Amino acid sequence: MDNNNAKNIIAENAAIVESVLDSKYGDDSEIVGGLTEAQRYSLLSGGKRIRPCLCIEACKMFGGDMKAALPFAAAIEMVHNYSLIHDDLPCMDDDDLRRGKPTTHKVYGEAVAVLAGDGLLTDAFLECAMNPYVSGDCAAVAVSLLSAATGSRGMIRGQAIDMYGETHELTLEQLIELHVGKTGALICAAVQLGCLAAGIAPDDEKMNDMTAVSTQIGLAFQIIDDVLDVTSTAETLGKPIGSDKEQNKTTFLRFFTVEQALAYAKQCTDTAVSILEKYENSDRLIAIAQLLCSREK
Ligand code: IPE
Ligand code: IPE
Ligand code: MG
Ligand code: MG
Ligand code: MG
Repeated sequence: MDNNNAKNIIAENAAIVESVLDSKYGDDSEIVGGLTEAQRYSLLSGGKRIRPCLCIEACKMFGGDMKAALPFAAAIEMVHNYSLIHDDLPCMDDDDLRRGKPTTHKVYGEAVAVLAGDGLLTDAFLECAMNPYVSGDCAAVAVSLLSAATGSRGMIRGQAIDMYGETHELTLEQLIELHVGKTGALICAAVQLGCLAAGIAPDDEKMNDMTAVSTQIGLAFQIIDDVLDVTSTAETLGKPIGSDKEQNKTTFLRFFTVEQALAYAKQCTDTAVSILEKYENSDRLIAIAQLLCSREK
């Protein structure tokens, strides 16, 4: 399977997830001051939908029905959009462009942007808890895995280290911890929730393997994000380039050249692929992992 097949798989899943998100956030009354509009602005502004795609494909790989993964996939994308809205705020990365459009706070103001993110995060847990296609026990495990991944020991921990790294020297080990937290944790949760939707128990060896796979995919994804901030253009990326340098972020390019960083990402991807190869029907996820490692946006 090649990059084009992987692109088609991502596009197919993206369209399905987008229609779910579209249906969740309809018109709202004027007195919420643009809250729902801001949430729609972020949710439906053309992200790559990598995380929901990984969730759905992990479910399918283990023979699950994608219907069961879909509420989890939508929830993951809601959390992702919340994280981006807050990440772009002036007190964080202070970025004005996201997906080729002004960032949410630029259009709706900071207060509405903060609330839009808060709402998306909280709604995501309801979405998981109320998944009608899995048992109550499975939904509860999904909620706990997602909370662990996104909370103070996961994504938010990563974001805190990222902010600390603006003014302090981090070791490479700490930078890896940062990346595994800020980006890897949610990518991991996406895959884990996909496995849960396919009926895989949290203590099953398959879950351990898929956690290892998604940790490597997530680390590679953030290394490439660091590289693209230097090598790409705002037009291609849809977000400002040079933002990391401007904010004095500690990134992989503090320790490696572009070529070395890309080789590091490839090594992570190869590790993920070697685990996936143990499993039948893993060709789609393998193709996606490889595409993500050679992505240009
Ligand atoms: C951007 O994620 C933030 C990171 C964690 C690197 P994506 O590159 O998946 O963003 P969208 O959703 O496609 O815009
Ligand atoms: C964002 O990382 C991670 C989260 C939002 C949790 P970055 O700050 O590197 O993402 P971009 O480059 O702004 O998309
Ligand atoms: Mg950031
Ligand atoms: Mg940022
Ligand atoms: Mg970045």
